[in-house]
Amino acid sequence: MNNIILIGFMGVGKGSVARELFKQSDYFAVDTDDLIESLENKRIKDIFESEGEEYFRALEFKTALWIEKSVNNTIISTGGGFYKVKNICKIGTIIYLKSSFDAILKRIQEHPNAKKKVAKRPLLKDLKKAKEIYKQRVSEYKSIASLTVNVENKSIKKIAKEILSQIK
Ligand code: S3P
Repeated sequence: MNNIILIGFMGVGKGSVARELFKQSDYFAVDTDDLIESLENKRIKDIFESEGEEYFRALEFKTALWIEKSVNNTIISTGGGFYKVKNICKIGTIIYLKSSFDAILKRIQEHPNAKKKVAKRPLLKDLKKAKEIYKQRVSEYKSIASLTVNVENKSIKKIAKEILSQIK
C-alpha cells in the first residue's frame, strides 16, 4: 500500500500536516476521525458521550480494515489512539509527528479556536489524565513508526516539506 499514515498525540497537527501534504504532492488525503464522524453522523465527543470509548475504538478498527483493503496513494491523518489498530503496519508507511506535551498544549491554547479545540477532544479535558496518556503512548508511537519527525517550533509547510524529502 502506498499510503502515508500520520500518527501522534492529540493536537500535534496531524490534520494540518495532511492537508499541506495534499497541497504539496500528488497524494490524496483523508482523516480517520472525519470518516468516523460522517459515518455516524455525530461528533467524536458525542460518540464518546453516548456510546463510549470502546464503541469508538471499534469504529477505528473497522475504518482501518476498510483503509487496508481500499485506500492507496493517500495521506491518512489519524486520531491519537488510532495507532493501536491491529493492521496499522499493513496500511502504509507510518510517520510519527513528535512534540513535547507542553508544546502541544501551547499549540492548542494559542489557536484562535482554542476552546473548541479542547472541547472536541474528550481525552483532553482532564490535563493530568491527558499527560498520563501522553507518557504511555510516546514510546509506542516511536516504536511502530518508520519515520519520526520532530514538529516542535516548525511551520506546517516546513514539516510537510521535510516529510516529502524523507520519503522520496
Ligand atoms: C483520541 C484522539 C482524537 C480522537 C479521539 C481520541 C485519542 O483525535 O480520535 O478524541 O485517543 O488520542 P486527535 O488526535 O485528532 O485529537
